[in-house]
Amino acid sequence: MEVVVRNYKQMCSLASIVAECIVPGDVFLLEGDLGAGKTTLVSSVVGAMGSEDMVSSPSFTIMNCYKAEMPIYHFDLYRINDENELFNLDMHGYLDKKDAVFFIEWSEKLSAFCPDHFFRFKILYPANINKEDIFSEEGCKRIIKIDYQGSKYKKIEQKIMMNVPVNNI
Ligand SMILES: Nc1ncnc2c1ncn2[C@@H]1O[C@H](COP(=O)(O)OP(=O)(O)OP(=O)(O)O)[C@@H](O)[C@H]1O
Ligand SMILES: [Mg+2]
Repeated sequence: MEVVVRNYKQMCSLASIVAECIVPGDVFLLEGDLGAGKTTLVSSVVGAMGSEDMVSSPSFTIMNCYKAEMPIYHFDLYRINDENELFNLDMHGYLDKKDAVFFIEWSEKLSAFCPDHFFRFKILYPANINKEDIFSEEGCKRIIKIDYQGSKYKKIEQKIMMNVPVNNI
């Protein structure tokens, strides 16, 4: 499924829809170029889940944990070079936690550590985007490709489909 998000406000609406559906153990993968909006989406979901913690890209620390109704683990794998680093990080150990929710930026780098269930957002700029608009305050258009593995995520897709414009172009 592909959805269109026209500005920052619509990204936040998408985030609240996702937040309403989250149950412990859920894993969200986020793909997309630098500045695509991965952290922005995570930050809005974390806020909508009732956390007052500051959300920022954990590009140096690799992982942040936020307090909410359940622990939220936020990974940014941009600086991960190989699977050994994920092993040393105890990625498997984290993903075994059934009482927490996971957001993983640059999840392409998970390779063999990719769990057997996930809900994935791939955030894209439209091809004709004006460079100055990308970081504008009110935000601009993004196309989000969504897929998932694991039947428990179907309800999230359905809820998004009912509430967010689907890209038919
Ligand atoms: N529709 C939109 N949705 C999300 N962010 C948007 C949108 N339009 C503009 N932006 C802006 O784009 C930027 C996205 O930055 P963000 O840190 O979320 O990207 P990222 O994908 O996490 O990048 P990185 O790979 O560096 O971690 C922010 O400045 C945000 O305000
Ligand atoms: Mg980021």
